[in-house]
Amino acid sequence: MSKGKVLVLHGPNLNLLGTRQPEIYGHQTLADIDNALREHALLEEWDINTLQSNHEGELIDAIHAARLDGSDAIIINPAAYTHTSVAILDALNAFDGKVIEVHLSNVHKRESFRHHSYVSLRADGVIAGLGSQGYHAALDALIREN
Ligand code: DQA
Repeated sequence: MSKGKVLVLHGPNLNLLGTRQPEIYGHQTLADIDNALREHALLEEWDINTLQSNHEGELIDAIHAARLDGSDAIIINPAAYTHTSVAILDALNAFDGKVIEVHLSNVHKRESFRHHSYVSLRADGVIAGLGSQGYHAALDALIREN
């Protein structure tokens, strides 16, 4: 029996991590990040599912599935959909658990169109600018709270 269950969602273009603008997003690949998160969750006896998608609807379907599969929380880096997607906000509003929004870069230090997040209207916590450590900080916050 696990102590909790979390879904980690990565939005569009994050499959390119490691080679995509490494000066902004770092040198780790998405697989590096997911593997470290899986290890972290396992040590704490948490269940973890991770998904990356370049498609808004697929991210929404995963949020809907999390409503039914016993997920306690969602950690989401919606990537560019952060700044555009009312549909992802609506899906998260239909999810009853905790939601933590993570950005690798400090979006507030960047172009002004990145300063607004639809997802932040729902998120219980927001972490930006800590690189991949942001996902671990989010997971720790969930574990300590449960
Ligand atoms: C990002 C920031 C977004 O503005 C951008 O579109 C991304 C990644 C981040 O993790 O820093 O793709 O969410």
